[in-house]
Amino acid sequence: MSASANPTTTRIDPATGPLSGHVLCPPDKSISHRCALFGAMSQGRTVIERYLVAQDTLSTLAAVESLGARVQRDGDRVVIDGVGLRGLTAPGGIVDVGNAGTLLRLLAGWIAGVPGLVVTLDGDASIRTRPMGRVIDPLRLMDAQIDATNDRFAPVTVTGGTLRGIEYTLPVASAQVKSCVLIAGMLAEGETTVVEPVASRDHTERMLAAAGAPLTRDGDRITIRTTDAIELGDTRVPGDPSSAAFPIAAALIVPGSTVHVDEVSTNWTRAGFVHIARRMGAQIEGPVEAPGTPHTTPEVTTTLSVTHGPLRGTTVEADEVPLAIDELPLVALLGCFAEPGEITTVTGAQELRVKETDRIAAVAEELGALGGKITPTDDGFIVEGTGGLIGGTLHSRGDHRMAMIGALAGLASAKGVDVVDMEAADVSYPTFLDDLAALRSR
Ligand code: S3P
Repeated sequence: MSASANPTTTRIDPATGPLSGHVLCPPDKSISHRCALFGAMSQGRTVIERYLVAQDTLSTLAAVESLGARVQRDGDRVVIDGVGLRGLTAPGGIVDVGNAGTLLRLLAGWIAGVPGLVVTLDGDASIRTRPMGRVIDPLRLMDAQIDATNDRFAPVTVTGGTLRGIEYTLPVASAQVKSCVLIAGMLAEGETTVVEPVASRDHTERMLAAAGAPLTRDGDRITIRTTDAIELGDTRVPGDPSSAAFPIAAALIVPGSTVHVDEVSTNWTRAGFVHIARRMGAQIEGPVEAPGTPHTTPEVTTTLSVTHGPLRGTTVEADEVPLAIDELPLVALLGCFAEPGEITTVTGAQELRVKETDRIAAVAEELGALGGKITPTDDGFIVEGTGGLIGGTLHSRGDHRMAMIGALAGLASAKGVDVVDMEAADVSYPTFLDDLAALRSR
């Protein structure tokens, strides 16, 4: 969501006591997007339990519906009658992706491989600033026809055609780009291989392999062959580790707290935050998958139990960044609450500059305004622990994760925080404030 024209201000008062209780982790955003897309690509019917009902993933349901799939939703239960891999139609010719970068990048790969289809993909003001060259370049190598604003930004018009398989080494460690090329690879002639410089979330690999796509992985090389059909099958969406990170962080910064987050995915490609927080001294009980667990393993969930305690600094480097990319702003928040003088450094995270907002500038300026000592760098930040924050006003900048960070800062600060445009949280975690209130009231 781009910053609303007349954003409201939400006051978050400091907690008057420890947080306690259970939070049911919201369904995973990345997997929900993929369920809608792969369900639409399937031949038959797919039933999805615990689909994420939030702005981003509702955009995906609307998008696949406008491209010919039949979508029925009852709460968080979604039934999709797919159109098949090559059965897309686009009577409207335009798809609105809202604020959803994942939808924009993955859909481009699908449309590019369906001859006769011409679709313009557009979204909100933030989406028009997100780099699209990273998917346009490999798709053009596959012979795709794409026009974009300044050749690099949405609106993007994709004209479907016959694609050829390629071998592509990702210049950035991006699961969205990897997924876009693999989806196009299913429609392309021959074989497509994506080489990952650093591991990133592997939901596409797990889901497509389980859906019968001819996908194999050998070290950092993922290969997919042309195929006629996939069948996603009925799916229950696991809880989102990126959303779980918010109640986890809340427990780590409000003294005396013990919080349990239920149904969190244990997928190792999403577990970076748990490892980083543990290095900072956080007591987080609960299993996560061993690094390198193969993509043929089903997604499982667990309860993570978190107890407040003193935090120290840590260093996060490039190879860990994709495994915690969406949680790095929270690492900055934890860094502020580390013992005085403890230093937390994040490097190799220049990708943060091209998220829903420039998250390096946003954490440095917004948490700085609340009393945090954060120095931005080209590819990350350096945080000096002060044991807490004073409070004040935080502007979410229309970024869901910044809005939720503002609320956590309010809870654990001396004076509380006024969060401008808290509604931005609806993009991924619409029940966030309710969950926080429930933890406060116990
Ligand atoms: C996502 C991948 C990540 C992440 C985003 C969701 C996905 O983006 O930041 O929130 O679902 O594949 P990049 O692939 O651009 O790093």
